[in-house]
Amino acid sequence: MKHRIAVIPGDGIGKEVLPEGQRVLEAAARRFGFEVEWKVFDWSCETYAKTGRMMPEDGLEQLRPFESIFLGAVGFPGVPDHVSLWGLLIPIRRNFRQYINLRPVRLLKGVRSPLANRGPQDIDMLIVRENNEGEYSSIGGRLYAGTDDELAMQQAVFTRKGCDRVMRYAFERAMERRRHVTSATKSNGIIHSMPFWDERFAAMAAGYPQVKTAQYHIDILTAHFVQHPDWFDVVVGSNLFGDILSDLGPAIAGSIGIAPGGNINPEKEYPSMFEPVHGSAPDIAGKGIANPVAQIWTGAMMLEHLGQPAAARAVVAAIEKVVEEGRAVTRDLGGKATTREAGEAIAALI
Ligand SMILES: NC(=O)c1ccc[n+]([C@@H]2O[C@H](COP(=O)([O-])OP(=O)(O)OC[C@H]3O[C@@H](n4cnc5c(N)ncnc54)[C@H](O)[C@@H]3O)[C@@H](O)[C@H]2O)c1
Repeated sequence: MKHRIAVIPGDGIGKEVLPEGQRVLEAAARRFGFEVEWKVFDWSCETYAKTGRMMPEDGLEQLRPFESIFLGAVGFPGVPDHVSLWGLLIPIRRNFRQYINLRPVRLLKGVRSPLANRGPQDIDMLIVRENNEGEYSSIGGRLYAGTDDELAMQQAVFTRKGCDRVMRYAFERAMERRRHVTSATKSNGIIHSMPFWDERFAAMAAGYPQVKTAQYHIDILTAHFVQHPDWFDVVVGSNLFGDILSDLGPAIAGSIGIAPGGNINPEKEYPSMFEPVHGSAPDIAGKGIANPVAQIWTGAMMLEHLGQPAAARAVVAAIEKVVEEGRAVTRDLGGKATTREAGEAIAALI
């Protein structure tokens, strides 16, 4: 069996960690008897600086035939962040209906959480962020620029279909885990869309009597993440709230350098895109010290999506072993290994 994967290393450390992801996935492919065929696309802020576009006009058509997209990170000083986001990531996420942004948050053995007295048994959650609509819409505009009457309007979009599908996905994942779903809301302050979100959550919960639920306003929910991370199993949130929680989660789990993520079209009608939570880290780019674990774990999520669950488990187990032993870990985890040495150590265990 051959999986055809589009690879977009992007900018900064994206170019350094992505080859380590490929290295480990190739080792997994050899061991579990499948092939991975990569096609690399050099779409990045560097490309933007040369051509004025993050990807060619027919970029989406070029990606369409692939089973998945494996992305490093995009963003670089000098190119405004909204260019890399709206010129590449958001068109891919939206046009390919990658309506789930999935971010597992787990404190691995051997990693110290910044939260006092918390161990791996306390931090193990799955953040499910709505990825296609909500607060991140391009509907709106500005009027009377440069005058005292200047105004900006930004529309949020919440559809029944959009809420239901992300919530259903969250409940389905919870059925495979500890059967608990928490909803992030703000229905006290945002009086149209968030009560609607709550209604849809209650309606979905009614179909899953085996699953316990909780819901919190986003403000107190962020406090609970810090004070009671053990309360959470699956957490579902709108595009904005999910975005915030899915950076807070990895922060309490020790290092952004290990946090994986996926933009998923569950029906597999379109390619899904797998990218670590971290960005291009210009502060450490080019030094060969970036932690490749997030990219490699992201690769394990991709293997799961491609229907290779045994290979996915083997990759995660290899990561756990290397991180727990602490021999071949990068600086952010207190070690001295280079990006490549960390990747090679994980690949060798597979
Ligand atoms: N999906 C994406 O491509 C994505 C996501 C977030 C940020 N960005 C972009 O990346 C650029 C930098 O953003 P930022 O600095 O806010 O976030 P960042 O994640 O790039 O870096 C934040 C901090 O974490 C450290 N870090 C990140 N990944 C690491 C790794 N693998 N190993 C060790 N340390 C790591 C960095 O050195 C930095 O100190 C911006 O242009 C931003 O738009 C892109």
